[in-house]
Amino acid sequence: MPFKCVFMLLAEFVSFDSEIATVFASILGDISMTNITRTSASHYEVQKNRRQQFIEDWRNNHRSVVHLKDIEMHRTARGLTCGVYLGKDGGNPVRTVDAAAHEIDPDTVSTIHRHSWDAVILCIGGSGWIEIDQARIDWAAGDSIHVPAWSWHRHGNESGNIARFMSFSSEPFVDILGFAILEDGGNTPLSQLPGYPGYTPTTPGNDIYARRIRRLAADQAEHRHGRLHTSWNDIEFRQSPRGTRTTFLLDSALGYRTSGLTMAMFEIGPGRAQSMHRHSGEAWLYVVEGHGHSFIGAEVDQGENYQWNKGDLIVVDHYSWHQHFNDDPTMTAKVVRVHILDTLLNTMNALCYPMNLLEEPPDHIRSKQTGDLSTISWPEVQRPSWP
Ligand SMILES: [Fe+2]
Ligand SMILES: [Fe+2]
Repeated sequence: MPFKCVFMLLAEFVSFDSEIATVFASILGDISMTNITRTSASHYEVQKNRRQQFIEDWRNNHRSVVHLKDIEMHRTARGLTCGVYLGKDGGNPVRTVDAAAHEIDPDTVSTIHRHSWDAVILCIGGSGWIEIDQARIDWAAGDSIHVPAWSWHRHGNESGNIARFMSFSSEPFVDILGFAILEDGGNTPLSQLPGYPGYTPTTPGNDIYARRIRRLAADQAEHRHGRLHTSWNDIEFRQSPRGTRTTFLLDSALGYRTSGLTMAMFEIGPGRAQSMHRHSGEAWLYVVEGHGHSFIGAEVDQGENYQWNKGDLIVVDHYSWHQHFNDDPTMTAKVVRVHILDTLLNTMNALCYPMNLLEEPPDHIRSKQTGDLSTISWPEVQRPSWP
């Protein structure tokens, strides 16, 4: 057992705790003799402790509101200035979506890069452009953009002012599966960069392998030709029974083909509230305009109120009861919500069936929460501005 002796000797020199050294030496002894690691804990205990630790870590990392004042903006190697709201690179591990703010200085072009996850962009200040593969999209505040997985993209700003946008990506979700890959192309022209990962478009036959090739090819073709941009000029608000007026910004209903990422905007009347509800998955809510508070709780009468202002991010934990209030008596509040709807949330609904993960109060309670909708006076819709 030479490994064991060497380890005990090393332990002497580097002053390891002798008990730890004995444990390691005994494990090494076991490995060198049998190639089997022995543990006194049963499979049940190991699994139970691991699950408990996972949930504890998750709870400790969870944030209900991330305030704009706490976001640190840093210059990055891409030539942008970025700050993480929530995400591993900002010290907050997340499981589904990450959120970050980005600024492009005047007369700046970023490096080009691509990744195996997709992202949605909410333009919040100034104007700029993004190139996604061959397509250049000029944007202004209020516009929404989808950056598909594996698309080469870079940002630019030809205006005289700083351009600012928020990004929400599916990287954490893809990372969980071990498929998160990022490739930076520096300043290489697009024509010299490799194309999308290839796939076999079709094959004859009706066996299960041939069917799989055709099914996945059709799926890829659809994902690679989805919509990329919604201009603020094209959005249309509609009154919702939840007491707000709402509009889709980026959704499969508008022709987008994302990993399930979807964005919608809702506006709460002066001094009014959205009615309470809960659903599967998290809701990520970026405050575009206004100030207010959100009730979030495990039960309708057991929760906390969280204050928010313009530029803050509210994260409603999965299956929590929640209600958003506009605290301004004269101005409306505009909030953009992000879900991973068509994929993750729908999968959660299916996996938890017959549990109903979308719940709302009965109509008579809901109308008390929203008040008389006909008395809300909505202002003319104007593009957001920053700051
Ligand atoms: Fe990107
Ligand atoms: Fe919600």
